[in-house]
Amino acid sequence: MSQFSVKELLGTEPASQQVVINGWVKAFRSNRFIALNDGSTINNLQCVVDYENFDEEIIKEISVGAALKVTGSLVESQGKGQKVEILVGAVEIHGAADPETYPIQPKKHSLEFLREKAHLRVRTNTFSAVMRLRSALAFAIHDYFNKNGFYYMHAPIVTGSDAEGAGEMFRVTTLDAKNPPLTEEGDVNYKKDFFGKETNLTVSGQLEAEAYAMGLGKVYTFGPTFRAENSNTSRHLAEFWMIEPEMAFYDLDMNMDLAEDFIKSVIQYVLENCDDDLEFLEKRLLDEEKTKPQAERSELSLKDKLRFVVDNNFKRVSYTEAIDILRNSKPNKKKKFEYPIDEWGADLQSEHERFLVEKHFKCPVILFDYPAKIKAFYMRLNEDGKTVRAMDVLFPGIGEIVGGSQREERLEVLKEKMEQLHIEEEELWWYLDLRKFGTAVHSGFGLGFERLVLFVTGMGNIRDVIPFPRTPQNAEF
Ligand code: 4AD
Ligand code: MG
Repeated sequence: MSQFSVKELLGTEPASQQVVINGWVKAFRSNRFIALNDGSTINNLQCVVDYENFDEEIIKEISVGAALKVTGSLVESQGKGQKVEILVGAVEIHGAADPETYPIQPKKHSLEFLREKAHLRVRTNTFSAVMRLRSALAFAIHDYFNKNGFYYMHAPIVTGSDAEGAGEMFRVTTLDAKNPPLTEEGDVNYKKDFFGKETNLTVSGQLEAEAYAMGLGKVYTFGPTFRAENSNTSRHLAEFWMIEPEMAFYDLDMNMDLAEDFIKSVIQYVLENCDDDLEFLEKRLLDEEKTKPQAERSELSLKDKLRFVVDNNFKRVSYTEAIDILRNSKPNKKKKFEYPIDEWGADLQSEHERFLVEKHFKCPVILFDYPAKIKAFYMRLNEDGKTVRAMDVLFPGIGEIVGGSQREERLEVLKEKMEQLHIEEEELWWYLDLRKFGTAVHSGFGLGFERLVLFVTGMGNIRDVIPFPRTPQNAEF
């Protein structure tokens, strides 16, 4: 007798064939109908218990959350709502789940409650759907790059350089925190540390990806990145996954074209391949929207929103144009923005990004040519001497989903920039080497994976789209 998944059995023609199926009990009605799920699909398999053949002891152990092995015959369902069901011959209990203490009951739990039970929450419909979509998106991303001539490159996780120059990093050390070795000046002596220098968890694999793009042409990284900023928002994690393509001989326009095509392709993939889960999340979102005032409700359903992104061009707008729009906008004039926009050069906050995307353009937006002062050191300086070839992709409900740029490939210009920002040449000597030997126009960007999953699933908090979120004061599990 073969062992199948629920997904396989739900797609099988019933012919009273004997089957074995393992899963967890989602519901147990009338001491007769077991809804069984093994994670292979959002849909449950109905197993109908024939009372006569069962001892009471086993029936007692069947409750929500219990793990079972069911043997029986696959038949056409007598009831509505499913094509097939199992007439149960025998049930073995892998493990019972005490109904008095098992926290995941078949009722609506708040997302906050489930965050406290992160080790069990994947057994709910919502989280299983989100995590299957997360997995499908990761596959679609690798598939996209593979089909488009990119090589997957593994950037190091422990680094000695600060790619973003933001300085909010997690230190990696084996020194004794209570009694570290000191230099003559009384500072911690990192020469005695494991790597012989100060090291951190990476904030981005970009600098190393640039080195590899200069030999392999087109590469991408897809790995964990870490930021020690104390941002307690629904869009920030301390540990998140980033996808960073880096391409030799690409200018900023080609970079924007790639970002747009890439995002559309992976969203198209889930539209084509994950309909059950999207359908479930769409309904969930609709229920949630009903609790909101009319004015705050989204006009589009989840799948319509995804289709909208796939079918429409992203609007490309320079930073300077965006500042004009924002300066003259209603919320700015009525002092509704927390950070009012007065002059050119202001850094954009998520309230501004969301105004542009949700209220003004009503579509995804790519902002480009930002002031050099508010962007990282490695971005290519424009002829005007004050803007750089940066781009951010902004999404409805999310704000910034992608940040990227054309890189400064001119050695002298880069050195000057580093000097202005007090970045030691010795620290990035190898990065400068890339500009000394066979330098070329090149570009890349970083997509925050969880922000993409947030958009695709319609979830509201980034903590709910990664299995075990790491945020300030939170590294349980
Ligand atoms: O804009 P960022 O900081 O860009 C970089 O790190 C570049 N080195 C990327 C590159 O050009 N290769 O980050 C890129 C994206 C953001 O747009 C956002 O989606 C995501 O990473 N991100 C975060 N996601 C979750 N939590 C955080 N704390 C994030 N910080 C950035
Ligand atoms: Mg950014």
